Amino acid sequence: MRIGVFGTGMVGDALSKALSKLGHEVTVGARSSDSESLQPFADEGLLTGSFADAAITSDLVINATNGNFSVEAVASAAAELDGKTLIDLSNRLDHSKGMAAAALAAPDNSVAADIQAAVPGVNVVKALNTMNCNVMVDPSLVPGDHVVFVSGDSAEAKQQVKDLLAQFGWREQQIVDLGGLETATGPEMLMQLWLDVVVARGGFGAGPFNFAING
Ligand SMILES: NC(=O)c1ccc[n+]([C@@H]2O[C@H](COP(=O)([O-])OP(=O)(O)OC[C@H]3O[C@@H](n4cnc5c(N)ncnc54)[C@H](OP(=O)(O)O)[C@@H]3O)[C@@H](O)[C@H]2O)c1
Repeated sequence: MRIGVFGTGMVGDALSKALSKLGHEVTVGARSSDSESLQPFADEGLLTGSFADAAITSDLVINATNGNFSVEAVASAAAELDGKTLIDLSNRLDHSKGMAAAALAAPDNSVAADIQAAVPGVNVVKALNTMNCNVMVDPSLVPGDHVVFVSGDSAEAKQQVKDLLAQFGWREQQIVDLGGLETATGPEMLMQLWLDVVVARGGFGAGPFNFAING
């Protein structure tokens, strides 16, 4: 599949490498096609461009941009996103206190809902925002039936995302379909707990973990 990855940070890096390894044609997008942030991806032999360039050449797009600016990032490619599936894994965070970041999500503050409202033609599916990026693309890093949440209004788009998750190694019983896009608020709000767990475990060096549902 042709996949556009919006975002040149550690998540964009992990995803673009994993997707290429799986045989997908990946285009990595940044604010500008001549952004320095794209150079490491070009050096790896990946296609690069602006967010709009990455959308034009893709059947499915992943938003891995800074959640505080994701609406602007996705909106800049709106004309190329009509009818396409967009996986939104972003989180809005306040990093002003360092590692003890604060998640800004609330019932009336969801990046996924805001992206959907700003770009009505795209099919937003919230997924993967509740774990470290290495776990996103390799769930075997954490033992057990830990989960990935999926929220979205289009059943077809959600199926596309579930198929992609399966390619990363997510088993059916690990994929929890919460329902429509309004349920994306829960996984976004879960980020505060995720950040608190990171601090309680002694920081990012303590290794990967993920949430599970027992019962
Ligand atoms: N780190 C993790 O393991 C993890 C886990 C779950 C979810 N997430 C979420 O994944 C997303 C990506 O995280 P990250 O650490 O890889 O990268 P990041 O540093 O949060 O974001 C980098 C990307 O955001 C873009 N960006 C920054 N400011 C922007 C602006 N004003 N307008 C438009 N785009 C802007 C950058 O564009 P340029 O390339 O042009 O600079 C770059 O592509 C975040 O929303 C994060 O909360 C991360």
